[in-house]
Amino acid sequence: MRSRRWTNWILICFLACCLSISAKAAWGHAPDEVGGFEPVPNRIEEFDWQLPSWVPRPVVPDDNPMTAAKVELGRHLFYEPRLSVTGDFSCATCHLQHLAFADGKTLPAGATGEVHPRNSMGLTNVGYNSVQTWANPLMQHLEQQMLVPLFGEEPVELGMAGRENELLQTLQSDSDYQQRFQDAFDDESPVTVRNISLAIAAFERTLNSFDSPYDRYRYGGDATAISDAAKRGEALFNSERLECFHCHGGLNFSDSTRHERSGFTEIAFHNTGLYNIDGNGAYPSDNTGVQEITQKAADMGRFKAPTLRNIEVTAPYMHDGSVATLDEAIAHYSAGGRTISEGPHAGVGSQNPLKSSFIKGFSLTETEKQDLMAFLKSLTDETFLTNPKLSSPFE
Ligand code: HEC
Ligand code: HEC
Repeated sequence: MRSRRWTNWILICFLACCLSISAKAAWGHAPDEVGGFEPVPNRIEEFDWQLPSWVPRPVVPDDNPMTAAKVELGRHLFYEPRLSVTGDFSCATCHLQHLAFADGKTLPAGATGEVHPRNSMGLTNVGYNSVQTWANPLMQHLEQQMLVPLFGEEPVELGMAGRENELLQTLQSDSDYQQRFQDAFDDESPVTVRNISLAIAAFERTLNSFDSPYDRYRYGGDATAISDAAKRGEALFNSERLECFHCHGGLNFSDSTRHERSGFTEIAFHNTGLYNIDGNGAYPSDNTGVQEITQKAADMGRFKAPTLRNIEVTAPYMHDGSVATLDEAIAHYSAGGRTISEGPHAGVGSQNPLKSSFIKGFSLTETEKQDLMAFLKSLTDETFLTNPKLSSPFE
């Protein structure tokens, strides 16, 4: 399993390279250039981000400036079933807007029915992620990430490997797409895999969610936007007793966050004691986290702390969807790691020797638990879940 997905990763690196989606080109500014208030590239200024004034903008790669035409093309492609080998599968099959672009499944199946070993992630504020997906330190760009579902073979998601020409011909012979590519790109023959990747990434940078009741309370000056219970829950979340904020802190409730004003880029992965199969910290062999990429024993079970925005609607949880509810997630943390009493994954997670020192366990009264839950639910942003600009252009 491990080596299979590793092969997949090499294929994507190769593809990204051919399409000149290199780390340097795709990332743009060095962190020290984007600290403080300036300089912000003009072209970012021109795009209407529709963000509240307190929100810094995502970092945009130099070679993929945001434009309305490109975003609109990207939206079409994101919802386009002809981007799959079967013609009935798209990004949006596994990333549904009303679920904050997660899919509600434990593990998704791709176009050909192959089951993915990982839970589909929500796409809330993906433009602010310093690293994409659950556990790949090298996957730092949206432009690069979308090649995985499109062309990856381990597992097959959209299944377009080896069908690049077919795909480009389909889009080329569609007059609407022809026009949209021309509007979005200056190139002479703009219908290319590279431009598909740039457009989808540009659309993804508009999947921004900062209008939850919590945002209106915390940043919008509306003291009544959330309940007293949620306010108490916020204090618990930020307490040294619970430690949640250490990994789920800041603008996007994730420590792997980057934006135009962040001084340096943090990329972090943590073992939360979800498993401990052999007593030495082992996770199931098809989901060993960062270890799969680095091959270092100490990286076993280390995953990204995902954003907790819209967490109410993205169940089931964790990298393998093995935690069904928020109640269960809180129970896992409160025990200082999950215990699985029987079956192939049996083990005492709280004794996982590779576990982060911030996962130490705590006990909550029933009221405190409800307070924490009320806080987590105050992060649900109805505007984001229903914004027509982010929904399918084909319906
Ligand atoms: C078969 C279901 C499926 C399809 C189709 C799919 N995804 Fe995903 N998506 C996933 C899964 C599973 C993950 C987590 C992958 C991992 O960690 O290895 C993910 C992760 C992501 C992430 C990382 C989010 C984060 O917070 O780190 C992005 C971005 C993303 N997908 C975008 C896309 C785009 C764009 C497309 C279409 C080109 C797409 N996905 C198609 C299932 C899918
Ligand atoms: C040491 C860092 C760390 C701390 C502290 C921490 N988390 Fe997490 N959190 C993570 C990581 C890493 C994941 C993903 C783990 C995985 O899938 O194996 C995660 C996942 C979650 C998820 C599921 C997210 C999803 O989209 O599936 C929830 C909910 C959550 N954490 C809530 C909390 C709460 C509440 C607290 C405080 C009680 C907390 N976390 C403390 C790192 C942390």
